[in-house]
Amino acid sequence: APRPTPADKFSFGLWTVGWQARDPFGDATRPELDPVEAVNRLAELGAYGVTFHDDDLVPFGVDAATRDQHIARFRKALDETGLVVPMVTTNLFNHPVFKDGGFTSNDRDVRRYALRKVLRNVDLAAELGASTFVMWGGREGSEYDVAKDVRAALDRYREAVDLLTQYVIDRGYNLRFALEPKPNEPRGDILLPTVGHALAFISQLAHPELVGLNPEVGHEQMAGLNYAHGIAQALWQGKLFHLDLNGQRGVKYDQDLVFGHGDLMNAFALVDLLENGGPNGGPTYDGPRHFDYKPSRTEDMDGVWASAAANMSTYLLLKERAAAFRADPEVIEALAASKVGELGTPTLNPGEGYDDLLADRSAFEEFDVDAVAARGFGFVRLNQLAVEHLLGAR
Ligand code: GCO
Ligand code: MN
Ligand code: MN
Ligand code: MN
Repeated sequence: APRPTPADKFSFGLWTVGWQARDPFGDATRPELDPVEAVNRLAELGAYGVTFHDDDLVPFGVDAATRDQHIARFRKALDETGLVVPMVTTNLFNHPVFKDGGFTSNDRDVRRYALRKVLRNVDLAAELGASTFVMWGGREGSEYDVAKDVRAALDRYREAVDLLTQYVIDRGYNLRFALEPKPNEPRGDILLPTVGHALAFISQLAHPELVGLNPEVGHEQMAGLNYAHGIAQALWQGKLFHLDLNGQRGVKYDQDLVFGHGDLMNAFALVDLLENGGPNGGPTYDGPRHFDYKPSRTEDMDGVWASAAANMSTYLLLKERAAAFRADPEVIEALAASKVGELGTPTLNPGEGYDDLLADRSAFEEFDVDAVAARGFGFVRLNQLAVEHLLGAR
């Protein structure tokens, strides 16, 4: 398998390799991981970046001097390895105070505390040179419909995001926010459950230009949705600020598997999209290839590092396969036969309006509906070519 280098822009959350594998049914199966060791090992494996929640780096509730020490050790490890911090996020879900959410808790004092916790970490993000601040509102939601006024909650969510964007503007930080949708878990229902909900929410903000998305593979798939389609729409709207790569097998609990260990065909389409743009061009993604996965509970520390390497290796293999797919003359011919390129041609001629369309007899009166309806598109053949490339058979 190809060896990752920093030029590939792979990054990992401290909470991924550092996950001790506590789940609702069982205790931790692995020891604590020192963030400094995480930085060293990730650098050795070929990653370029590391990301964190405030509480991953600095234990919740420690005094300011202890906080500074933790940050200083971490910075030293970054300097020694050359790893960068492209993204930072805040933990508003672990401590029991956030049991009804942070920005949207029914309790106003909790909301004020949550804002302070985030503002403090926004300062740290700017200090460390991060350009994206992720907000995953895992506890923003409810179990009981009668217990949450959803419209008031969205007002409070907007109030929080508007305060934060104003803060980075006033401070002159080069930082944008990325909302991470998820349909459920840990709450019964989470606010901004999908890419589509989050995009619609952004249109209501005071500074929509500073707010985009951090979609996670498994979260869209938990909702039964197509991740590559969601990413394509986020790119189309200029809102793909960051992304969380992992694997998920179907509509069930959040598995956070290694990238590609879920829907491999969709992962192939995704890497093709990120690396090569759409078949008709359009923007590609040049941000971090960030992995937000959990090394399975069955693994020891060797297994943790093997799984971290697996994420990167799978991505690079898919990138190779996607390039071969694009270059294959038979694929090029099959794409043309399927009219994939023709979708890039506007439906109206240059300067044409509805009057011209209404006057065009070939578009309607003389259009041979039955002949066109009888023609197949050849999509199955095209997809089988993708499968063969994916399997290394071509
Ligand atoms: C999940 C989420 C979280 C967030 C991360 C950033 O798997 O439910 O991905 O891991 O991404 O905590 O806040
Ligand atoms: Mn997840
Ligand atoms: Mn995530
Ligand atoms: Mn996660």
